[in-house]
Parts: sequence; structure tokens; C-alpha cells
Amino acid sequence: MSTKEGRGSTASTARAQADVSSTTTRGAVLLATEPRRIEIYNADCLQFLSLLETGSVDVVTTDPAYSGMNNLLKLGHGRIVGEYKDRGSATGKWFVEFEDSAENYRKLLIELRRVLNPATGHLYMMFDSYSLLTLGVLVREYFDVKNLITWDKVSIGMGHYFRRRQEFILFATRHNSRKLRNHSIPDVWRYRRVFGGRYPTQKPVEVFDTMLFASAFPGAVVCDPFVGSGSSAIAALRNDCVFVGNDISPVATELTCQRIRDYLTSGVDMLQPASAAVPGEPKFTKDSRES
Ligand SMILES: C[S@@+](CC[C@H](N)C(=O)[O-])C[C@H]1O[C@@H](n2cnc3c(N)ncnc32)[C@H](O)[C@@H]1O
Repeated sequence: MSTKEGRGSTASTARAQADVSSTTTRGAVLLATEPRRIEIYNADCLQFLSLLETGSVDVVTTDPAYSGMNNLLKLGHGRIVGEYKDRGSATGKWFVEFEDSAENYRKLLIELRRVLNPATGHLYMMFDSYSLLTLGVLVREYFDVKNLITWDKVSIGMGHYFRRRQEFILFATRHNSRKLRNHSIPDVWRYRRVFGGRYPTQKPVEVFDTMLFASAFPGAVVCDPFVGSGSSAIAALRNDCVFVGNDISPVATELTCQRIRDYLTSGVDMLQPASAAVPGEPKFTKDSRES
């Protein structure tokens, strides 16, 4: 597929092989081969994206760890989520955050634009309320922004003033052309947040599943440069996509690899065994397409 080391076939009819677990010459862990090829990298996002071929990605589904919210709100040196005992020793934070200056963010957007296929490229970029207002506007410089989606997490979280119950997803296209596969999806998505997850910022798979329900096609190449615990990877697998993911944290990439191996062998998602769907709400995920 998608790295500069060479394009493979995504059109194979062979089943994805579980737990291939070799390492590519670019240093990615290869967890499954065509047609659901999965590669996980452990690098800085910009270094990782530089390894991908121009125009080789169909859908980006990503959830960066922004530094702005933590630094500017000064919440306990940024320790706003997770277990204190798991904090990183160097920074006092639980995981590395992408340094989200406008300059750095533009570099990220330029690379995302380069790797997205001009004919098929769809971008889903998650934001907290702080980074949405500081960085969200920059997305329009490089992409055609189509929607601001609200993820309603159903129950309230932290917040010194109004308690936070929502996160945001900018949906944008690389070029004006490709429509969504389904035209009945609203711009508010209700899925329960993950409580007590193994990874501090673990998101429900259903959030990524809905992105792919709308934008993916079998064999589509899905990319997440900030993969965390691998929720986007599980969604890509469920939607028969090729997946190329990355995280700067070796803890995150090891967890993601283990989660994918387990899912490929048992069909069970060990980090999210229960659905995040809300009873009575319409579902816009692979399961709902099949039922
Ligand atoms: C919000 S978390 C992603 C959570 C993920 N969506 C999930 O459901 O588990 C953001 C991730 O970005 C990673 N990260 C921070 N800075 C990075 C960088 N410069 N390059 C790549 N990954 C980075 C962090 O290690 C963290 O795992």
C-alpha cells in the first residue's frame, strides 16, 4: 500500500492473516497483510507522515493530544486525565502532547494534505474546545472544511465552569469531489465515553466507526498519526480497510499492537468489550449497515 518502500496490492481476495507480526524495512510492525493490511509505526507524527507516499491515503481519522488546553488552562501541570502513578517522569504529564503551535500545526496539515489522495481524500480531525478555537481555523487553509461534528459523550466530564460533555470533529475533504457514502448521518453523534480505559484518552471505537461508515470503502487506506490505544485501528478492521497508524509513545503502540492481535485472533476488542452505543439512538456504524 502506502509507504515509500513500495506499494503492495490492496485488491487481493485473500483473507487478512492474523498476527503476522513482522517488521517492515521502515520499522513498522506489520500485523496483518492484504486485504486488511495493518502497519503500526512508533515515531513523531511528522516523521511518520514523511514515510508515506504522496496521495496514498484515502481517509485520515485522528485525535491528536493537543498541548494548548493543558498548558493554557494550567490544570495541575497538564495532568487532566489518567492515573497519577502513570505520569511521564520527564514532564509530569501522562503522555506526550503534540506541540500545537500554529507553525507546527501547519506542518502537520501540509503533510496530511500531501498524503491524502486528491480524488478520495477525507479528513476527520478531532478537537477539544480550546484547540478548536485556536487551531481549527487553520484547517481551512489546506482543506475544504465541510462540517463541524459534535461528539456528545452523554455524561459530563471535568470543567471549572460548565462541565464538558462534548468534543468536536472537523470533517474536510482534500478536494471538493467525493461525497459521503451515506447521506442520513446527523452532525451530532451520541456515544458513551470510555470509563476506566487502559489508555488515558481512549475513545470509543464507534466514533471512528461512524467516520468510516460515512467515508470508507473496502480496501480504503485509513491513516491515524496519533493512534493512542488503537480505537481507530479496530474501526478500520471492522470496515475492511487497510490501516496505517502511528504514535510517538511506545506504550501506546505496544498496546495498539496487542489490541489488534487479540481482535484478529478472537474477534473480541479487549479494550472496549462493550458497545458505546446509546439505546434508542440511531447507529451509524458497520453493524447497523449489516442489520
Ligand atoms: C488523544 S491521544 C489518542 C487517543 C486515541 N484516539 C485512542 O482512542 O486511544 C493522542 C496521542 O498522540 C500521541 N502523540 C503526542 N504527540 C505526538 C507526536 N508528536 N507524534 C505522534 N504522536 C503523538 C500521544 O502519545 C497520544 O497517544
